[in-house]
Amino acid sequence: MSELTRRQLIGSVGSAAAMTALAPQAFAAGGSTSAGKSFAPVTSSSGAVSAPAGPPYSGYQVEIYLNGLRGVSPKITTNLSRIEAQAAKVLSPQAQKYLLADAGGRGTVRANARAFRKWRIIPLMFRDHAVRDLSTTVVGTQMPAPVLFAPVGRQKLAHPDGELASARAAAGLELTYIHSAKASYSLEDVAAANGAGSRWYELNWPKKGRLDVSLLQRARAALYTHLVITLPSSDPNWKQLRSIREHWDGPILLKGVRTVEDASRAVKHGVQGIVVSSHGGRKGGESSGSLEALPAIARRTGRRLSVLFDSGVRTAPHVFKALALGADAVLVGRPYVFGLALDGQAGVRHVMRTLLAEFDISLGNAGYATHLDLGTASLSTIR
Ligand code: FNR
Repeated sequence: MSELTRRQLIGSVGSAAAMTALAPQAFAAGGSTSAGKSFAPVTSSSGAVSAPAGPPYSGYQVEIYLNGLRGVSPKITTNLSRIEAQAAKVLSPQAQKYLLADAGGRGTVRANARAFRKWRIIPLMFRDHAVRDLSTTVVGTQMPAPVLFAPVGRQKLAHPDGELASARAAAGLELTYIHSAKASYSLEDVAAANGAGSRWYELNWPKKGRLDVSLLQRARAALYTHLVITLPSSDPNWKQLRSIREHWDGPILLKGVRTVEDASRAVKHGVQGIVVSSHGGRKGGESSGSLEALPAIARRTGRRLSVLFDSGVRTAPHVFKALALGADAVLVGRPYVFGLALDGQAGVRHVMRTLLAEFDISLGNAGYATHLDLGTASLSTIR
């Protein structure tokens, strides 16, 4: 391989660090995961190489690398920090307005990004991390990796197939899909697209006396297993939670928790999980980064309920840092919707596989065989 080709490949695959993890010979020989799943690359008659979509996730980097050797690059960038710029070129002005919207001139979006930069990963040496296991169980849902699809409304603006494509991609990767209360497609249509996949249902915190019980019944009938209730920006009326419980016997999570006080209230009201979230910076003007609140919330309440995190997750180090700071799993929002805009279901799949491959490799590079071993000792702070 010429140096130029190598550089081009490094450019298309992502980073030089990621390249060190690419070992075509090892990949070609196949292997197995700790869960006993064996894998081997598949080469089609046209010469296209494909890796399994599930673990080991690092296989996707190798797939991209081997296809790159044949001169075939992915349609969508593998640098998910750049995907917004790529997607913006194909979004209609109306879609841009909705999908790229943020509150307060991107102040919170920037705060979310900055909060991640305050932490650095401490790599551990001499640890066996060759076989990695990313699986986990969050609020009773088994997941092959600690990553979920955040609820995002009006996805038809990004692509005609909208939520149907995203829910199909989620099912294909066995990741949990959270259906937005503001979706372009009905909860039943999305459930049908999601098939045997894992799906949770998002509900806006109802105004007093305005709980639509039929929605909960429909969600149950369509096999949504968990309710994710978005906290209102004003003080919630906690009595509403009691009436929701009368009509929903499954687990409940509250999304939009930003303070230890609200997290403690969630514990007091007996919910099973919270999502520490600034809704991606779309609400609340120039507020603090979601990650800033995570460590204290996880410390105070993490033993009594599950703590999930979102807002600003773009790269593997972001996933790593959120988990190390106490999250049990992270939600990803905009990146998959940008993938949807760029290439429909395949674009969503590419984005999530890219993130998972990068995370798998980063975990190994840092010396971990499982993310369950991550903790605050895995990070140092920058003052
Ligand atoms: C959202 N989000 C959101 N959240 C929610 O609870 N219900 C919803 O209907 C929506 N809709 C929505 C639309 C769009 C266009 C975006 C970008 C976001 C917030 C979402 O669930 C999640 O909290 C953020 O997207 C996470 O931040 P990132 O990953 O986008 O940075």
